[in-house]
Parts: sequence; structure tokens; C-alpha cells
Amino acid sequence: MQTSILKVGPAPMEDEAVGRAAELLRGGQVVAFPTETVYGLAADATSRSAVEKIYRAKQRPADNPLIVHIAEAEQLGELVEEGAERALSRARRLADSLWPGPLTLVVPAGPEIRRSCCRGLDTVAVRLPDHPVARALIARAGRPLAAPSANLSGRPSPTTAAHVAHDLGGRIPLILDAGPCRVGLESTVLDISGETVILLRPGAVSAPQIARVVGERVESEGQARRSPGTRHGHYRPLSPLYLIPSGLDDASLKEALSRRLQKAARARAVDSDEEETAPRFGYLGERSLLRFHAQALTLPDRPTLAERARHLYADLRALDALKPAFILADEASPGPSSAALRDRLSRAAKGSILE
Ligand code: TXA
Ligand code: MG
Repeated sequence: MQTSILKVGPAPMEDEAVGRAAELLRGGQVVAFPTETVYGLAADATSRSAVEKIYRAKQRPADNPLIVHIAEAEQLGELVEEGAERALSRARRLADSLWPGPLTLVVPAGPEIRRSCCRGLDTVAVRLPDHPVARALIARAGRPLAAPSANLSGRPSPTTAAHVAHDLGGRIPLILDAGPCRVGLESTVLDISGETVILLRPGAVSAPQIARVVGERVESEGQARRSPGTRHGHYRPLSPLYLIPSGLDDASLKEALSRRLQKAARARAVDSDEEETAPRFGYLGERSLLRFHAQALTLPDRPTLAERARHLYADLRALDALKPAFILADEASPGPSSAALRDRLSRAAKGSILE
């Protein structure tokens, strides 16, 4: 299959590329599109056969349900199960203050959407994205759009059209290109379907922000059941990634690094008869000991939390392309505003720390 990449102009409601994408979606095809968080891979959420194409293109595990994207908060009513008054009233309050935006709400699912998007669960995840192209596409397709991140399953989420093309080129007909995503990490996923309000995945909308709006305590996923997607491998670069604990002093860091580099050099000597060159490592962080290390591959400074989040996946992909022996990244300091970054880093590293 040939994959077209079409740039979207400044007026997406009239844009030709968006029209072409909406037409494909109405015809039961999949299309990649930008949101403020990451690029998504959309299909008509009301069509089971269209939704299946998402699973095939991404090689997504069949038990992992999809987020349904809407263009107006009123569309929520069509997706929620009849009589789910408490969830609906929480949703309305949250929607009033935090939609459009990077917040996904898990609510009791109506029967129709349950069949296409929920993979056996009785809840559906719904989000109203804050991106003009995403909203124009949903409006012009004329139906809610099911969309996971537009990466191959398990890989870092895409924050540019080029990332999507790298993973899904040849597997999908069209990618809408509106430049890099503003937030860079996936939406906060919040379960408001039960007794208590539960944060299933941290994102740019923080737990304290949510608690203020709903006027209830927000439990974290560790205290409750987990989102199906968190069972699967996620966001992984191809090179092994190790996190550097913020408390590690420079002397211990130096020692740990030299042990890692020796290991990498030994592994290389076994693997090839090529002339020995010192192994290189990728580095994401601010420590000058590493930024100026002779064997380090580094990228531009990301001095604020927002910039680290915005560029995390792009930086992991860029370092991967340089084929380092391994990648090191500074851990993010604890706190509600860094929860999403901490979560994605630790999943990408599968919990490995440099020691
Ligand atoms: O920012 C985002 O949320 C992006 C953009 C494209 O909107 N989408 C995204 O989708 O990250 P995905 O499929 O990569 O992640 C959705 C997460 C998965 O962990 C999935 O298991 C969870 O949401 N999820 C979906 N439906 C659910 C449900 N009914 N109950 C609990 N978790 C659900
Ligand atoms: Mg994903």
C-alpha cells in the first residue's frame, strides 16, 4: 500500500487534505492525524470492520481497548450507557473546565460503542482533543473516531508525521501532517465509571487539577485496577535504556558508567571482528559529566519539564537511529506535574536504573 503524507493548511475545516481523510474514514479506512498530545491512527468508531484495521496496522494486542475521539462535548451522551448519571455528571464538570484537552474519561459504555471499541470491557474511554485538525477531521467525518497512538505497538508514540511514516509507512493510506505535537505525551486517562475517581494513566492534566474540578479524591492506578494497556510493553526504544536516579553523585555515576561501557565493549568484541572502537551511549539529561563525555551522543538541551515531555519520544527515536550501545536518561523529579514524564521514562526503561 502506498502511504500519502499530506500537509494541512491553516483552515482545516476547508482543507482539501482533511476532506480526503474524512472521505477515507467514511469509507471504512484508517488515517493518521495530529492531536495536541501525539499523532493518532483513526477509524470510524461505529464500524467494527474499520476498527479492526487499526489493530492490524499497529499490530496492537486484541485485548487493548481504544479511545473514542469526539469534536463536541455533547457527543459524549451518544456513547455513555443510559442511566449512568453519576459518571455523566462528573464528565460534564470535567468537560466544562478541561476539554478540549489532554484528558480521557472512562465512562460506562452504551451497547453500540461497546461492540466496536471496548474489547470486552463495559466502559469506554472518550476524549475531546485540543487540536484544530483533529476536531475538523472528526467533524467532517461526521462520526466519533477510535484512535490509539499511531505507532507500531510497543514503540514510542509518534509526535511528528515522519515518526508515523517510519512505523506505519506502507501499512496505511494517509497521514495528515500538521507539524510536531505541542504536548508530546499521551493524555491523562481517568476512570470516572465507578465508586471512586481513578487515575489510570498520568498525562498533562494532573491529579490535583482533576480533584479541584470534581471535588473528589483522585486515587492512583496502583491503589486500584489498572488500564488494560499498561499490561503490555510500552514506549520502548530499541537500545536498552537506563534511568539515572536524581540522587546519584558524580563519583558513583562515573563508576557506574564505566562499568556499563566496559560491558558494552566486551559484548561488541564477542559480536564482531571489526576493529575495536569505543562504544557510544545516548544521553537525555542535564548532567555536564555526561553531556560533555567523549563517548556520549547528545541532543539539544531540554531545560524545562514541558520541553522534556514534548521531545521525549522524538529524542528516543533520534538516539535510537544513531545505534548507541545503550541510552541513559535523567529520572524526572517526583511531583504531580512530572508524573507523566516519570511514568513514560520508567516504562521505556522497563524499570532499569543505572547502578
Ligand atoms: O493522547 C492520547 O490519549 C492519544 C491520542 C491519539 O489521543 N491516544 C492514545 O491511545 O494514547 P492509546 O491507545 O495509545 O492509549 C490508550 C490507553 C491504553 O492504555 C488503553 O488500555 C486505555 O487507554 N483504555 C482505553 N479504553 C479503556 C477503558 N475502557 N478502560 C480503561 N482503559 C482504557
Ligand atoms: Mg499508545
